[in-house]
Amino acid sequence: MTTSTDDLSPEDIEFFDREGYLVFEDFIEPDLNQRLMADVDAMIEDRQNETQRRLIDYPELGLLTSHPPMMGKIESVMNSTFAMHHIHAARHDAGSGGVAWHQDYAQLPHTNRSHAMVHIFYYLNGLNGEIGDLLFVPGSQKSIVSDGALQIMGDGDLPGMVCVDTLPSGSAIMVHSALWHARRAKPGGEDMPRYFIDVSYCQNGVTWPGYGSHKAINARALELGLDREGRYAHVYDSSTFFDAHEYRSDFDTRNQGSLVLQLKDL
Ligand SMILES: [Fe+2]
Repeated sequence: MTTSTDDLSPEDIEFFDREGYLVFEDFIEPDLNQRLMADVDAMIEDRQNETQRRLIDYPELGLLTSHPPMMGKIESVMNSTFAMHHIHAARHDAGSGGVAWHQDYAQLPHTNRSHAMVHIFYYLNGLNGEIGDLLFVPGSQKSIVSDGALQIMGDGDLPGMVCVDTLPSGSAIMVHSALWHARRAKPGGEDMPRYFIDVSYCQNGVTWPGYGSHKAINARALELGLDREGRYAHVYDSSTFFDAHEYRSDFDTRNQGSLVLQLKDL
C-alpha cells in the first residue's frame, strides 16, 4: 500500500496495525534529498579515511532523526511518544551482498510485542531493481521470533512476501520492526549506488534494550539542537533504554526452563 505523505488516515493506521508497513513515495523533498545523499557520501569518505564521526554529527543525517513530517506519522501509528533507537546509513555499491531474512524488534528475550517499535527505511535515490530489492512478509510482525531465527531461509521466497524493486527518489517505508524482511542482491547498478538510511524508534511505556552508546548519542543530539527547541526532546530520552550487555550474561545463566516460573517471584 502506498499512502499519501500528508497526515495518516484511520485507514492507514489500521493498515499498518494489520500489515506492518506503510510506503511513502516522494517523501523527502528533492533539495533535502540531495543534501542527505551528500552527507552519506561524506560519511563513506570519512570511513575510507578512518575518520569516525557519529551519524548525527552529519548535519542533515542528524536532523533527519527528528524530521517533523515523519515524527507526526510515528506518533499517529503509536498513539504515544517514542525515542530513537538508532540511525544507520549506507551506500550500497554494485555487487553489494544481500541480507538474509530477519526481524529487528529489540527485546530480550523475545516473548511479546506489547509496544511498538518502527524502522523507517529511506531510499534516497529510490529502488530500480538493481543492487538489492527489499523483501518483506506483510503481517509477519505478529509472529514472535528471535532476531536470528529466520536466517536459515537466506533470501529465498516466502509465502505471501512482497518484493519492492521500484520506488521513486526520496521514498520512505515505515515498517514495524518485527516485520520479517530481507534484502535480495541483484545485478547491475554500476552507475547508480543505492543510498539507504534507516532510523528506528521505540514506543514509550516500557524500557528497551539499547546500544551502550545511547546516552552519549542522545546528549550530543540535544547539544546539536536536534530536538528542535524541545519539541522532540522525548526522541533523545535515554531513560527509554537499558544497556543489554549489562544483563546478558546473568540472563544466559538464568534462562532455563519456563521463564514464567521466575516471573511469579517478582
Ligand atoms: Fe533489518
